Amino acid sequence: MEIRSTTDRDREVFVDTFHAAFARFPETPAGERTGVWAALETDRAWLAVAPDGRPVGTAAAYSFELTLPGGGLAPVGGVSAVGVLPSHRRQGVLTGMMRHQFTDVRERGEFLSVLLASEATIYGRFGYGPATFTQRLTVPRHRGALTAPRAGGTGTGEDTGSIEVLRRAECGEILEAVYDRYRRAQPGALSRPPHWWSLGAGQPPIAPSPRYVAVHRDADGVPDGYACYSIGEPDSLLVDETIAADDTVYTALAGFLLNHDLVSEVVFKHSPPENPLRWRLVDLNAGQLTRHTEWLWVRILDVPRALTARGWFCDGELVLDVDDPFLGERGRYLLTVRDGKADCVPTDREPDLSLDVRDLGAVYLGGTAPSTLVRAGHIRAHGPDAAALADALFRAERPPHCLHWF
Ligand SMILES: CC(C)(COP(=O)(O)OP(=O)(O)OC[C@H]1O[C@@H](n2cnc3c(N)ncnc32)[C@H](O)[C@@H]1OP(=O)(O)O)[C@@H](O)C(=O)NCCC(=O)NCCS
Repeated sequence: MEIRSTTDRDREVFVDTFHAAFARFPETPAGERTGVWAALETDRAWLAVAPDGRPVGTAAAYSFELTLPGGGLAPVGGVSAVGVLPSHRRQGVLTGMMRHQFTDVRERGEFLSVLLASEATIYGRFGYGPATFTQRLTVPRHRGALTAPRAGGTGTGEDTGSIEVLRRAECGEILEAVYDRYRRAQPGALSRPPHWWSLGAGQPPIAPSPRYVAVHRDADGVPDGYACYSIGEPDSLLVDETIAADDTVYTALAGFLLNHDLVSEVVFKHSPPENPLRWRLVDLNAGQLTRHTEWLWVRILDVPRALTARGWFCDGELVLDVDDPFLGERGRYLLTVRDGKADCVPTDREPDLSLDVRDLGAVYLGGTAPSTLVRAGHIRAHGPDAAALADALFRAERPPHCLHWF
């Protein structure tokens, strides 16, 4: 089986093969650069070709930046368009493409790969761990009253801004700028490169489909938040995404939507974990959380670089014994954290934790506590305090969240 990168000439073959893997006919001719295909980076798109010359599998990666705990930005390949023809499945085609991709990632100097999985059973074997989670928050409008903030002070004050409703087509570059500011402060968020916006590559609001957008402006008139929405079910307000510079702006937008006339409920897609909005509802039980699911999977390809790139929020020392069965690599590292920064070097010391690289990926952004994976039987803790120390160390400044689709 040959795996080769594509050129503009075989874009159609690539898209066709991918659609055949999913048994779906394309909505538009493959040659037309619409939707997410418009952003395809041909040198990061691979075709698996059978000995008889027929393309049988596809995989691609998009170049993004991932925000790490502490605000560091890591260049990552966002793997997508993975498909193998039904006639060639379970013969190692995806396995071959994954090996190829990891070599390419390392050659580019990247140390992480990320993806969204169609099924949670596929990618753990390749070393990916589910690193962020997302869910829907549904609030019946008649129970959507919000309390005044009790504390006062930075980030909890009353809103001093204003909200204007625009049509999606009127937003110009407002959404792009607001999203970019937000994603730099949110661990787990991915960049949306400028060409994604200009090409309309992706789902709404990147794709300029008919939508209303509540744009929030600060007291100086500078846009610092938006909520993009439409009426879904007969009288349900479906919010594609709520993006805000801070929690006050987020709550202001949510309050605006919860006051919308003639709807029975407001459905916030992609509600972040531990969404403070729930604590602002007069009735804590009014918000129903559904569709809780993993979203961004992280694959660590260079453990010391990954651990030193993120920020840390308490001091400590841990010895991690990390096994990477897919790549046949193993390393033991001393992680020393002081004043928010980590040092990570090979060591012979006895380990505190033994873990598979997929589990390191799962805890890397702070979305799951290492002790949960100890309790699940995936991570081995060698001393009584190791799991608790790891929990304290790996925590992020806020739970990681990603809502970018690719
Ligand atoms: C998922 C898919 C790409 C796997 O391709 P493939 O070439 O069959 O995968 P491989 O032969 O390399 O499989 C490697 C291993 O993963 C397992 N595996 C593959 N797909 C799996 C799945 N969907 N669920 C559970 N295990 C799976 C295989 O059984 C194999 O296990 P083994 O090593 O123990 O034998 C292919 O089934 C496909 O195209 N599915 C439909 C489209 C899709 O879901 N794409 C993923 C988008 S994120």
